[in-house]
Amino acid sequence: MKQEKPETQVVRKAYDRIAGSYDLFEWPVEKLFFNRWRRELFAGLEGNILEIGVGTGKNMPYYPANANVTAIDLSRGMLSKAHKRKEASGYAVDLREMDAEDLRFPAKSFDHVVATFVLCSVPDPVQALKEMKRVVRHRGTIILLEHVLSDRVFLSAIQRFHNPFTRHLFGFNIDRDTKSNIGKAGLSIMADVHLGFYDVFRRFTSHP
Ligand SMILES: C[S@@+](CC[C@H](N)C(=O)[O-])C[C@H]1O[C@@H](n2cnc3c(N)ncnc32)[C@H](O)[C@@H]1O
Repeated sequence: MKQEKPETQVVRKAYDRIAGSYDLFEWPVEKLFFNRWRRELFAGLEGNILEIGVGTGKNMPYYPANANVTAIDLSRGMLSKAHKRKEASGYAVDLREMDAEDLRFPAKSFDHVVATFVLCSVPDPVQALKEMKRVVRHRGTIILLEHVLSDRVFLSAIQRFHNPFTRHLFGFNIDRDTKSNIGKAGLSIMADVHLGFYDVFRRFTSHP
């Protein structure tokens, strides 16, 4: 087994630490925005789906009934919450502890790979995107819901200023240029939907 990178350990420990209060902390934005965006993301998907960074399992209610879902996360604390949600509601999902940068699945195993608010915390987002590209089948899709660095000068300055705090306290970054990272991983962007807060919250659909 590979030795975990120090940056990955930092992220894992941050999420282990906040796992207990994560859902409560996100409750207002979840109710106002995120739950709708999650539903829209999963609408119409079928087949074998891989969810990266499942967290506490907030996407589970939106998994399509006719899909086989496998979901991974780095943090045992977050996974334990996801297991509880799975057991309480009977969602059919195969939960596994795994690093998004080093997926233990054969190439082209999934029809779709999805991740919601995950690339902001993965230490090397381009490597994670390369792994998503490797495990999705030819003509499959990779769908990401992310908050990204704004193109607006004032907003991006605020994001850059606050980033050390969010990274240190919660393990996520608010200054990631995810659109460029998708390109760096060799993926083509089919859709880039601006969902909210100017150009910050986005849904990217891409394919290998
Ligand atoms: C902000 S939370 C989002 C959780 C969930 N996707 C959601 O929408 O509520 C980010 C999640 O990504 C996970 N994560 C971060 N880096 C990861 C990595 N390298 N591999 C797997 N999971 C990772 C964290 O443990 C955490 O559960």
